[in-house]
Amino acid sequence: MTKVLFVCLGNICRSPMAEAIFNDKIQKSGLVDKFITDSCGTADFHVGDRPDHRTIRILEKNGIETRHLGRQFEAKDFEAFDLIVAMDSQNEKDILKLASNQFQKNKIVKMRSYETPNENLDVPDPYYGNIHDFEKVYTILDNAIENLIKSIV
Ligand code: 4NP
Repeated sequence: MTKVLFVCLGNICRSPMAEAIFNDKIQKSGLVDKFITDSCGTADFHVGDRPDHRTIRILEKNGIETRHLGRQFEAKDFEAFDLIVAMDSQNEKDILKLASNQFQKNKIVKMRSYETPNENLDVPDPYYGNIHDFEKVYTILDNAIENLIKSIV
């Protein structure tokens, strides 16, 4: 059993999309029993909120549902999860500050390290963008998550 947590800033655009894509892939490949997944934000702006309507729209277009409600990252998530996947460098920094030892720090990875390992790229924040920015995020996440699952299984 591997417990995977996806983290962005607001937990309404990127990380709930990542969680839903991941869940869809493990369902389709019969791996649901091998994982526990969740997502959260470093900020508390959208606690209890449904994902952004554009995230829902892009997911629906790809036949994927989400029932996630926003929540904020907490230090105890370091104990509850094996792998903490940050969407960008700022998310990574903000979570690192809350880690209390090296073992916890080692659980943090950046999403795009599974896509373009040597480039240290961020999953761009689409919140102030348009639907095309959400499409781009979906494509990045879809590729990265395919590799993430392969790397665990
Ligand atoms: P996310 O995008 O981190 O991908 O969920 C954002 C959502 C909300 C805000 C910023 C980024 N906000 O400032 O409310």
